[in-house]
Amino acid sequence: MVVIAIDGPSGSGKSSASRAVAAFFRWDYLDTGALYRALTLFAINRDVRDPSHIPALLSANSIKWNGSPDEPQILLEGRIVNAEIRSEAVTKRVSEVAADPEVRKFLLALQRAIINQARSGIVVEGRDIGTTVWPDAELKIFLTADLIARAERRNAELSSNFTHKEIQDSLAARDVIDSNRSTSPLRQIDEQIIIDATHLSLEEVVTEIKRLIIELELSNDGEPRE
Ligand code: DC
Repeated sequence: MVVIAIDGPSGSGKSSASRAVAAFFRWDYLDTGALYRALTLFAINRDVRDPSHIPALLSANSIKWNGSPDEPQILLEGRIVNAEIRSEAVTKRVSEVAADPEVRKFLLALQRAIINQARSGIVVEGRDIGTTVWPDAELKIFLTADLIARAERRNAELSSNFTHKEIQDSLAARDVIDSNRSTSPLRQIDEQIIIDATHLSLEEVVTEIKRLIIELELSNDGEPRE
């Protein structure tokens, strides 16, 4: 089974690129940020103030992930919450929840279980996949872009009334929390191949990742789509 780890900051285009690569090789896809967001939504809905209390309130099946790259789904207690986990309330609180060691321990086990169930391969995106969740990944990528480019991408994605400056500030604030927490912070490591997407289109990023996978001969298990 092939695991491709794609880490990097918010707004670098990880999700779109990871989905496209997974779809091309007919592999599974895992958006680990969606898991952190689902736990945050749970905390908001149940008014759980201390994130360390969240895992004890969840049962084994509370969070489910459907990793089809064409139609990924995140379920919280049996309900699809794809849209709700992108709300402003969740986005504002998710970095604080994700910094909690109990939350990370709970989701580490869940992420590894999901990866272990993948058929021939899986593209996993997040902040600590290559460093912590799956250090044995066959290919580790750090996908980044400068703050202005990331804010522009987010601006295009969100149908909100936020100004460019507000989006930049919010991304920068999350960068600081995600990179400075004590448990598996966002960081670059030597084995990662760095792709700076500041001046690249999504298509160019996807082409580069596909090229690396083919060059490393990781795609033998599955025939790429046309
Ligand atoms: O990728 P995203 O914006 O949906 O991620 C939401 C938050 O989850 C982000 O602030 C950092 C956190 N996260 C994390 O700490 N570790 C991961 N592997 C994935 C996301």
